[in-house]
Amino acid sequence: MTTETRPLGQRLKEDNWDLHVQAEHDTLPQHMVRGTIPKETYAELLGQMWLVSRKLDAAIVATRDGVPVLKELVTDRQLQTPYLEEDLAHWGVETAGLEPLPGTAGLIADIERSRDENPIRLFGLHYVREGANNGNKYVAMKIRKAWGVEDGAGFRYLDPYGSDQRPMWEAFKTRLNEIELSEDEKSAIVAGARSMFEHIIAMHKDFELPPVEAAEGAPAH
Ligand code: HEM
Repeated sequence: MTTETRPLGQRLKEDNWDLHVQAEHDTLPQHMVRGTIPKETYAELLGQMWLVSRKLDAAIVATRDGVPVLKELVTDRQLQTPYLEEDLAHWGVETAGLEPLPGTAGLIADIERSRDENPIRLFGLHYVREGANNGNKYVAMKIRKAWGVEDGAGFRYLDPYGSDQRPMWEAFKTRLNEIELSEDEKSAIVAGARSMFEHIIAMHKDFELPPVEAAEGAPAH
């Protein structure tokens, strides 16, 4: 068996990049980055993300005093429920009537299991939604342009930090590499992140959309 020597931030990126490629090129994200996502679908997606974020935020807040990586790295500014509520109010969606689709229900069950059995795994789930802000900021810009929206109203979830995005992500990754964790803890975080990608891919597949045109669109990276 080889000993793992890569910093955790590098492991999280490298060991999940296959899933990132899959997630990014799926139909729903491609409709988003092309600005061809219908407004109702976008609002419905925000509703499903609200159901998830409410659970994940609550699980993190409930456990972080006992889990140093959650306590030190996940600030209140990273909790996404308020951003989603702002956007849902903007698009006229009432949270009271929201019901989880199958992919959402699967992720909620994972959050509850992680909270009860191995809360450090919550950090792996959280890393993915926090990291996704990197691409989401670009996606928000593309949708706003396609829909002719001048300001950021209705896009707070996709672009929560504005010009702080880059420095916040760099600080998050730096701190992540410094914090002391056992190999078991690191493995639980990486496994949690892989599951989060899989859950989000499943959530996106719950939406029926026409295939996208192959030629235009998203950046290669
Ligand atoms: C059209 C859709 C997407 C685009 C254009 C996109 C683009 C990007 C870009 C440009 C980065 C920064 C890469 C770097 O700094 O080297 C990034 C990072 C990331 N994205 Fe995406 N992304 C998309 C969808 C997603 C989705 C759906 C998820 C989650 C399921 C996701 C999760 C992440 C994560 C976790 C990172 C951080 C990687 C790391 O540095 O550790 N992305 N994305």
